[in-house]
Amino acid sequence: MIITVTLNVALDVTYHVPALVPQASHRVVEAVERPGGKGLNVARVLAALGHPVAVTGFAGGPAGEEVRRQLAAATYAGRLTDALVPIAGKTRRTVGVVDGRGRGATQFNEPGPTVGAGEWQALLTAYRDMLAAGADAVALCGSLPPGVPIGAYAELIREARAAGVYVLLDAEGPALRRGLAARPDLLKPNAGELAGLTGFAEPERAARDARRRGARAVAASLGADGMLVLAGDGGWRAAPPVRLTGNPTGAGDSAVAGLLSGLAEGLPWPARLARAVALSAATVLAPAAGEYDPAAYADLLPRVEVVPATS
Ligand SMILES: Nc1ncnc2c1ncn2[C@@H]1O[C@H](COP(=O)(O)OP(=O)(O)OP(=O)(O)O)[C@@H](O)[C@H]1O
Ligand SMILES: [Mg+2]
Repeated sequence: MIITVTLNVALDVTYHVPALVPQASHRVVEAVERPGGKGLNVARVLAALGHPVAVTGFAGGPAGEEVRRQLAAATYAGRLTDALVPIAGKTRRTVGVVDGRGRGATQFNEPGPTVGAGEWQALLTAYRDMLAAGADAVALCGSLPPGVPIGAYAELIREARAAGVYVLLDAEGPALRRGLAARPDLLKPNAGELAGLTGFAEPERAARDARRRGARAVAASLGADGMLVLAGDGGWRAAPPVRLTGNPTGAGDSAVAGLLSGLAEGLPWPARLARAVALSAATVLAPAAGEYDPAAYADLLPRVEVVPATS
């Protein structure tokens, strides 16, 4: 069982319009609503890969209800367990407007509901119970909603470590900085997040610095350039065999799912990395975050080259 934590769950709404023009009125050709928030994307990919997964975080209001309804409706052969904690506030929506002329998407992200102190405590209690029941790993993903203490990830990391459960952090800004000090087993930043954290643009130098700051291992995702991992027992780079065009949103979440599924299966680092790269590249080819193209994944996996990192 893998646990994913999404403190700032969202209902992702995508509007397709023929052409997006500021200050104009638009006819929406298609509107799609999906469960969103990074940990939910990670969980859907894990479940699709065949791994049992439990999702926790906060859900409330009509958008929260819709997220839960869709999680229950997607069967994944019973592998995905909804352990979201109810809150009085309303789960946020994100709105992405896709321009039919192929000019990409324009994204609007609400900040999220204010979480009360009692609600945060309820989540901590539920989380401790889930850890005590036994888990292979926990993934802490995404932004913090208002009201959740800035040290939230540090606290969740300390709890996981006390329970002997492997913990991965995928966050940014102050939440990342504070979380890092609690020594997560693995940090999964993208290139921009890693540079923002360390001040170094060169990924290997930055990853070394992130390890000095507290991460036991760092798996940095570098967009179309693939991934770099620096761990206690070595360092490796892997790149997708081809640069793909599509929707890169959620590719990093699939990389997290690839890394943790490989860990749960006892794969060594190079095989985990190859899986993460093939899976995330196959996600670029799927229209929605939290989904990947299975045929592309099978085709890409044997073609991903893993090489030792230079230092
Ligand atoms: N254009 C691309 N072609 C092939 N593979 C890609 C491409 N873009 C991303 N990937 C794959 O996806 C992985 C994650 O991408 P990226 O570093 O952009 O993640 P991210 O910014 O954390 O994404 P998100 O947080 O939106 O899920 C990369 O390491 C790579 O393996
Ligand atoms: Mg990311």
